[in-house]
Amino acid sequence: MTSKIAVLPGDGIGPEIVREAVKVIDALKANYGLDVEMEQGAIGGAGYDAAGDPLPAATLELAKASDAILLGAVGGPKYDQLERDKRPERGLLRIRKELNLFANLRPALLYPELAEASTLKPEVVSGLDIMIVRELTGDIYFGQPRGIEERNGERVGFNTMLYSESEVRRVAHVAFQIAMKRGKKLCSVEKANVLECSELWKEIVIEVGKKYPQVELSHMYVDNAAMQLVRAPKQFDVIVTGNIFGDILSDAASMLTGSIGMLPSASLDDNDKGMYEPIHGSAPDIAGQNLANPLATILSVAMMLRYTFGDEAAAQRIDAAVRQVLAEGYRTADIYSEGTQRVSCAEMGDAVVAALR
Ligand code: IPM
Ligand code: MG
Repeated sequence: MTSKIAVLPGDGIGPEIVREAVKVIDALKANYGLDVEMEQGAIGGAGYDAAGDPLPAATLELAKASDAILLGAVGGPKYDQLERDKRPERGLLRIRKELNLFANLRPALLYPELAEASTLKPEVVSGLDIMIVRELTGDIYFGQPRGIEERNGERVGFNTMLYSESEVRRVAHVAFQIAMKRGKKLCSVEKANVLECSELWKEIVIEVGKKYPQVELSHMYVDNAAMQLVRAPKQFDVIVTGNIFGDILSDAASMLTGSIGMLPSASLDDNDKGMYEPIHGSAPDIAGQNLANPLATILSVAMMLRYTFGDEAAAQRIDAAVRQVLAEGYRTADIYSEGTQRVSCAEMGDAVVAALR
């Protein structure tokens, strides 16, 4: 049966990077029997422009009716002054929640060809291959109560950090299962020395870990984890953590690779349905100039093939094509270094299509 992909380009560089990823999907359809259909929808600022809502009802419906979602990026200065509920980021948070995409997989992988791009010493990062599993639909991002209100004659802002046992349990299972397929090491990151929410998190992760005796489980406070990520990142295999800690640590981890333009992500529900997007933002400063790096979005398609469609061969085909174009010296501006060939966003997409085999 033909699978369906909802394609949500979003804002800024979103449309141009997604265009290149769609080229890759089209090439797989034409030459390698990939059986998918695609339909576009508006999200973020584009959703607001089209329907006055960063997650228009039609887009949510499309996403619900699809097997997977390919997202570009959302946000831009044009929308910063909108009331909070209309801002592009809200569209993103809502689609995650509405589709129950609780497990966010953010790999940080250093491509040997790009080792120079890292700000860390080559010996610290060479061979780096970490997977961060970030819980994505709970925590202080969604906890109630939240708000800004007047107390004792001044305004206070407040949010609630909250995890239920079941929320921790399901993401812990995902993380252990991923660790089983990798180096069998899992580090759970929290702040259990201060936060009750983290105390419960840790207790549940330990409980779930009893079902995965082959996985070596460790625990780390988030402040130490931030330090260890820049001190000796190769000690990690898989990290599992809550929404806010994962937001912060995954940005730090991405920069170890020197190229935020290279990193894909997957956000999964408990049925292998997923939303796939580059981890970088909408880069309004270079939008529409054919300068952006489409590789993170193209690699997100590889994750889609791997996790939602279970098509490891096709996923590896894309991974190999990306490695090949890097080996051949093609570089968009963000990863350019002397002696390599500078190409546009569209040329990079074409190079990947040419390298697929
Ligand atoms: C991310 C982003 C989002 C988040 C923003 C845009 C709402 O930073 O995907 O990491 O905080 O989750
Ligand atoms: Mg973030």
